[in-house]
Amino acid sequence: MIKLIKNGIIVTASDTFQADILVENGKISTIGSSLSAPGAEIIDAAGCFVFPGGIDPHTHLDMPFGGTVTKDDFETGTIAAAFGGTTTIIDFCLTNKGEPLKNSIQTWHAKSKQKAVIDYGFHLMIGEINEHVLGELPQVIEEEGITSFKVFMAYKNVFQADDETLFRTLLAAKELGALVMVHAENGDVIDYLTKKAIAEGNRDPIYHALTRPPVVEGEATGRAAQLAGLANSQLYVVHVSCADAVERIAEARSKGFDIWGETCPQYLVLDQSYLEKPNFEGAKYVWSPPLREKWNQDVLWNALKNGQLQTLGSDQCSFDFKGQKDLGRNDFTKIPNGGPTIEDRISILFSEGVKKGRITLNQFVDITSTRVAKLFGLFPKKGTIAIGTDADIVIFDPNVVRTISAESHHMAVDYNAFEGMKVYGEPVSVLSKGEFVIRNKQFVGTPGSGQYLKRAKYSLHTALGQTEMQSI
Ligand code: URP
Ligand code: ZN
Ligand code: ZN
Repeated sequence: MIKLIKNGIIVTASDTFQADILVENGKISTIGSSLSAPGAEIIDAAGCFVFPGGIDPHTHLDMPFGGTVTKDDFETGTIAAAFGGTTTIIDFCLTNKGEPLKNSIQTWHAKSKQKAVIDYGFHLMIGEINEHVLGELPQVIEEEGITSFKVFMAYKNVFQADDETLFRTLLAAKELGALVMVHAENGDVIDYLTKKAIAEGNRDPIYHALTRPPVVEGEATGRAAQLAGLANSQLYVVHVSCADAVERIAEARSKGFDIWGETCPQYLVLDQSYLEKPNFEGAKYVWSPPLREKWNQDVLWNALKNGQLQTLGSDQCSFDFKGQKDLGRNDFTKIPNGGPTIEDRISILFSEGVKKGRITLNQFVDITSTRVAKLFGLFPKKGTIAIGTDADIVIFDPNVVRTISAESHHMAVDYNAFEGMKVYGEPVSVLSKGEFVIRNKQFVGTPGSGQYLKRAKYSLHTALGQTEMQSI
């Protein structure tokens, strides 16, 4: 069915203007003033912004971790994402040492295919490098369209890879056209500090943060940046939480290295003191890297504003408080790391960022959608509002005032990390490829309608965009 979105204010990463949008066959076919289309369904967006659908570059759905499995799967997770204005996610496909990569990718297809209500792609974890892995990577890129690899520098004896693995992954990525993502924390030092804390009887959630100090993240970020420079490759640092890491990224960028940084809503609005909440409630706020002292928030906001950080991932990795976070009641090292964030990513950035004047409306669109599409091989199919792009569209009412709560959220998890937070703005309707997934704040999508996205290779030219390319 043809749809005509009328009277809204269209916002892209570069422009803000009033126009109507005609949607045909899942794509935007016309943008213009006072459009009419006989027989089209009219969607009135008066008083609303019309954004390109959000793209979340960092999710963990249906993922085994910390002796349990994340509570949200591809159905509940993508429904919650859609309520929050996200129309594409890129999820992390875990791999197992000694096993073909294609088996892991098949596992992730099986988890997602019948369940996702919005489009999705995968990043691939690289835990080891040998001739089998190197032999498979060209196929991973060409056949699966997986053009980003993830290396964990932490979680010793679980996911952690050594520096040789990181360096050789950077070299292979350069040759093949992929973007290397790192979880940058020094896992060996953390391992020592956590064992020491437990031996000394320090078992409460706050010790999760105290055994992963900012310098541990800064050191790993700097190391990864140096190795990327040495390999003349491209690097994307996930979930940047603190000034130390921002400084390492800024330094590397000032040297001309091809390095990008992502932060997450939790680091922008929550802080280390949350881990000290009584009755083990601090466990709800256990992320790696941990929440930091509050002053770091200003550094992160400034980095988003001045372009030293470019994206906002949710790092959605949800565990129930009762029955999952509980696993670490007597030992903080056993608290599953991560939290529920997929639904509130966009509203928090709009409310705390745009409404409070920390970033512009166009920066907001760039950070939540456009730049992600450019970095991860989805642009211009996704990430903007233009003729010929997928009609992934969010009709967003900026004037709604609401309170975030587990009572009203759509994630499957039993708490909300932002409980009680007042936010301005809410998606009213969300379209994926021209079809409503959320209509007047009600879910109307279909599990299995989300399509797997094969992504294009990494290109600095695309990642930067024409204007920035001309200035280097
Ligand atoms: O605590 C976190 N961030 N959990 C998710 C896994 C990861 O490290 O990204
Ligand atoms: Zn991580
Ligand atoms: Zn993550």
